[in-house]
Amino acid sequence: MSRWDDLHRHHERFRDRAILSLFDDAARAGAFSAEADGMLLDYSKTNIDAAGRDLLLALAEGAGVAARREAMFIGARINETEGRAVLHTALRNPATPVFVDGQDVTPPLRQTLARMETFARDLRTGRARGQGGRITDVVNIGIGGSDLGPAMACLALSPYADGPRAHFVSNVDGAHVHDVLAPLDPATTLVIVASKTFTTIETMTNAETARRWMAGKVADPARQFAAVSTALDRTAAFGIDPARVFGFEDWVGGRYSMWGPVGLSLMIAIGPDRFAEFLAGGAAMDAHFRTAPFARNLPVLLALVGIWHNQICGHATRAVLPYDQRLSRLPAYLQQLEMESNGKRVAMDGSDLPFPSGPVVWGEPGTNGQHAFYQLIHQGTRVIPCEFLLAVSGHEPDLAHQHRLLAANCLAQSEALMRGRPIEVARAMMAAKGLRGAELERQARHRVFPGNRPSTTLLYPRLTPFVLGQIIALYEHRVFVEGVILGINSFDQWGVELGKELAVALEPVLKGEADGAGKDGSTLRLVARLRGKG
Ligand code: F6P
Repeated sequence: MSRWDDLHRHHERFRDRAILSLFDDAARAGAFSAEADGMLLDYSKTNIDAAGRDLLLALAEGAGVAARREAMFIGARINETEGRAVLHTALRNPATPVFVDGQDVTPPLRQTLARMETFARDLRTGRARGQGGRITDVVNIGIGGSDLGPAMACLALSPYADGPRAHFVSNVDGAHVHDVLAPLDPATTLVIVASKTFTTIETMTNAETARRWMAGKVADPARQFAAVSTALDRTAAFGIDPARVFGFEDWVGGRYSMWGPVGLSLMIAIGPDRFAEFLAGGAAMDAHFRTAPFARNLPVLLALVGIWHNQICGHATRAVLPYDQRLSRLPAYLQQLEMESNGKRVAMDGSDLPFPSGPVVWGEPGTNGQHAFYQLIHQGTRVIPCEFLLAVSGHEPDLAHQHRLLAANCLAQSEALMRGRPIEVARAMMAAKGLRGAELERQARHRVFPGNRPSTTLLYPRLTPFVLGQIIALYEHRVFVEGVILGINSFDQWGVELGKELAVALEPVLKGEADGAGKDGSTLRLVARLRGKG
């Protein structure tokens, strides 16, 4: 623990230092930034100084990040609780062989990718048709990693969407599938059932509902279903033609799966060429992550900033604030990526984690969030490290003035968080309004911003498919590095199981087919009320 102790001591020593004072060093902004393929990460508005960064880098070195990183890329079984390799990186670089247990796993990847491309092209050109003509709409039914990635990316890349419209159904709440399907024509809709396991109750229930919806209107519903899964026996049992089933292997984790068949809805929407650019962006970030020295390595630096703020400074949450409306689903996507990966209380070896697990991740796009929760970020009692994302330019050249305003707001927020407004300034403001004495003091105190609140800014040229690929791979590797430093397995998710098991047991109780023996009083009372008996 000595590197951790060093970091805690360093933090204790400098915790009250003004971040702004670090800019007395005119070179700070450049020295505390790093770049990869046109993307800039600025972490200078944090309380990390050169000595602190050295300690953090030493922490990463000492945790064996480099060896673990290599182990991941070469197909070692680093998901040790499930005995699996972790090779989503192979999906974005299928031309380079990777061996798992001596077997090159990439030939099937290339075949599946080629089949996806043919399928997507045929749909986009109208060569493959629905029973009522050209496919106009694609509905992806999936949840978690089989939904959040493509849903986020389809919105992010909407300026490139020139294929059938993409829709997403995830929630088992019938309202979701109802509302998505209601305006669609079953005869021109393709349903993709996306589930790694093909057992997830929400997805299978929604898939059944969609099949019934289709059955009333077209002669052969199966012809308008496709599936994405690792469980080809189950897709066959569901009745989906193997020609429209796109398989993948268990070494692709659900929340890391959008680069392969789970991205089919995205590929259909933007086309195989744009999808290839998305993969290339991910691959470029992989190459950067694998080769750049830690001190200039974006995923490593972002991870170290995360560790500094959460485990060292004790800030339990972090806000992801994209100043990019089309990234409005990014926070939800990152919630799964980060919290399902690093929300663990047990280390890889089964011992208790000696520090807090990964942070609570939340956020909304700016500028909307400014008019909602930024009050708390600026003046609340807790410090919330903020991660801003911003494009140099948008996709709307006619609205460049709006992009300028967006950028001004983004930069202003990080500046305001750091700079704050001291009491003297607030007093002067109130005096200028004519206030005096106790009333001046009272009003001034409400207008104080403590400042010294840290943030990072990720600046990218424009939200293209390539850049989105870079951003997502950056966050994936950041989560990986944080996980290695914490000594946890970022690739399992045992914490989702208990609730699923209990839900399966409760459904018959709600139906009145089981008596709920052993349930607590609260649950029983709620069940009774739901059954109209309480
Ligand atoms: O319940 C969590 C989870 O297992 C996620 O890890 C996964 O992304 C999601 O459910 C969906 O799983 P599947 O793709 O197997 O339906």
